[in-house]
Amino acid sequence: MQVQWYPGHMTKARRAMKEDIRLVDLVIELLDARAPYSSRNPDIDELGRQKARLIILNKADLAAESANRAWEQYFEQKGFVTVRMDARRRSDMKPVQTAVLSACREKLERDRKRGIKNRPVRAMVVGIPNVGKSTFINSYAGKACAKTGNKPGVTRGNQWIRLSRELELLDTPGILWPRFEDQEVGIRLAMLGSVKDDILNTEELAWRLLSFMQERYREALRERYSLEESDLEKQPEVLLEQVAAARNCLVKGGGLDCAKAAKIVIEDFRSGRLGRITLELPDEADSYE
Ligand code: G4P
Repeated sequence: MQVQWYPGHMTKARRAMKEDIRLVDLVIELLDARAPYSSRNPDIDELGRQKARLIILNKADLAAESANRAWEQYFEQKGFVTVRMDARRRSDMKPVQTAVLSACREKLERDRKRGIKNRPVRAMVVGIPNVGKSTFINSYAGKACAKTGNKPGVTRGNQWIRLSRELELLDTPGILWPRFEDQEVGIRLAMLGSVKDDILNTEELAWRLLSFMQERYREALRERYSLEESDLEKQPEVLLEQVAAARNCLVKGGGLDCAKAAKIVIEDFRSGRLGRITLELPDEADSYE
């Protein structure tokens, strides 16, 4: 799904988010593990101020394992409870309950001191489009969970899903806008397929991806397209032509169809066929700030 954000959408999304956030104790923030910085909403720290916070590095199955660990550490050092997962897997939900309780420890302690018992933590899931919010809610809530029905003050007909004695989840995720100001961020999000890219066309996007792979994931690139070591030194434009030839991407008349090859490269990346790839690392994120 590709989403184009306009100022009007953003204002609406921000307003909805502010209303919903007032109702919850805990904000569960989903990031794309392949680009945690770029897929992070720039205003979430401000919006989620005074709330318990949990970060989920989702699509970790598509990201490099060493980078997943580095990002997990990075966010934990910043004080967030962090879990990495493939939200499609029910078995990856097991650590979430512990993480939720850990993220809400202060709130639970406060409740206990005030003599409040058995009041469930209320949580909502937020993230930019396509990051896996619905998938996460479905896997986490599962079929067994009944909705508790509308409650006064709940906007847009939202419902609370009772997940356990300790936790209720808003059934509709909060959709957040991504960072816009940085062109590189826009390009990475376009690579992931979470925003519509106006800056680059498909071929340019594939060149950028190939060039990145030439630098960081040489073996994976070589293997996928049966390249020689020397091919890795070529210009990405030339490399794309080579992929087009190898994959028999031809236009009528016999010329190379590089637009088709570009789509193949991008889809190979998005689906994980090019291997587990992370587009940005924590030390780079700090230098973006
Ligand atoms: P959203 O609500 O945040 O917009 O995202 P959604 O759950 O719809 O998930 C977007 C796509 O990402 C879905 O693919 C979903 O299966 C996939 N996805 C979600 N979590 C994970 C994960 O942890 N790992 C992997 N590999 N994929 C995940 P889709 O239905 O094929 O949609 P699309 O990609 O064709 O848009």
